[in-house]
Amino acid sequence: MTPQGRFQGKVVLVTGANGGQGAVHVKRFLEEGANVVALDVAGMPEAPSVTDVGAGQLLECRADVRALADLERAVSAATEAFGGIDIVVANAGINGSRGPAVEFEEEEWLRVLDINLNGVWRTIKAAAPSLLASTKSPSVIIIGSTCAVKGYATSGHYTAAKHGLTGLLKVLSAELAPKGVRVNMINPTTVDTPLIQVQSMYDAFVPPGQEPTAENFRQAMFGLHQMPIPWIDPEDVTAAVMWLASEESRYVTGAQLSVDGGAVLL
Ligand SMILES: NC(=O)c1ccc[n+]([C@@H]2O[C@H](COP(=O)([O-])OP(=O)(O)OC[C@H]3O[C@@H](n4cnc5c(N)ncnc54)[C@H](O)[C@@H]3O)[C@@H](O)[C@H]2O)c1
Repeated sequence: MTPQGRFQGKVVLVTGANGGQGAVHVKRFLEEGANVVALDVAGMPEAPSVTDVGAGQLLECRADVRALADLERAVSAATEAFGGIDIVVANAGINGSRGPAVEFEEEEWLRVLDINLNGVWRTIKAAAPSLLASTKSPSVIIIGSTCAVKGYATSGHYTAAKHGLTGLLKVLSAELAPKGVRVNMINPTTVDTPLIQVQSMYDAFVPPGQEPTAENFRQAMFGLHQMPIPWIDPEDVTAAVMWLASEESRYVTGAQLSVDGGAVLL
């Protein structure tokens, strides 16, 4: 089967679909023949709306991963439009503010945990009946982070949430494997999206004595990686998503795939 046909006849649900990475995943799945359910808390129509896009169809809908009812409504709409869901990319996430772990306001701590950890669980829970009914090699891809395996100072809530996803991955992949649903996780390093191109990241990573500018941030980011890069592109994550979503990885489950230029090696 040609790569263009890999996802013909399959239905893919992507959360955070309006973001830097999510939008690229959506585009690639559509190019490769899938019907896509694109969900985001921002930049989406309030009510489910279906349009023809190239070979596939795109169902867009506002959904907050903090609200199980939003996700269940989207799954119902997808079932009505496409018959069900075969692939889930649990991608929605936020950076949160930065600071020492014990100095976060409780509200901010809980906000990051609720979106980045609980939101992934809710997404998979809402899609589970559909995934379990799928006869088309169902696959779940959780978007983690290098913060899922390594501690990063000033990002305690984000790091705790992403480490939590590591635990969720282990349990879900074991529980769902006998039922034919694979669950894997991708741990990207810094990706060049709006999530990192913000002043709070410049302030956190530019060394003392330097202006916290975008260029000094870029230079500082080289220090995170063994490869000579400041960050990766969304397309680098998309390539891993496509492989884990496809039947080329049919016996891969419970895996964490680093796409990080060697960031967690040392
Ligand atoms: N950018 C990076 O450096 C980086 C590195 C490692 C992992 N990640 C992870 O990749 C994923 C995607 O991030 P990105 O880089 O595309 O960031 P982004 O900010 O460009 O996109 C994130 C998207 O998630 C959406 N979102 C936020 N809260 C939501 C909610 N409650 N419900 C539904 N949607 C919500 C946003 O509206 C946005 O469209 C996140 O899980 C993030 O933690 C990012």
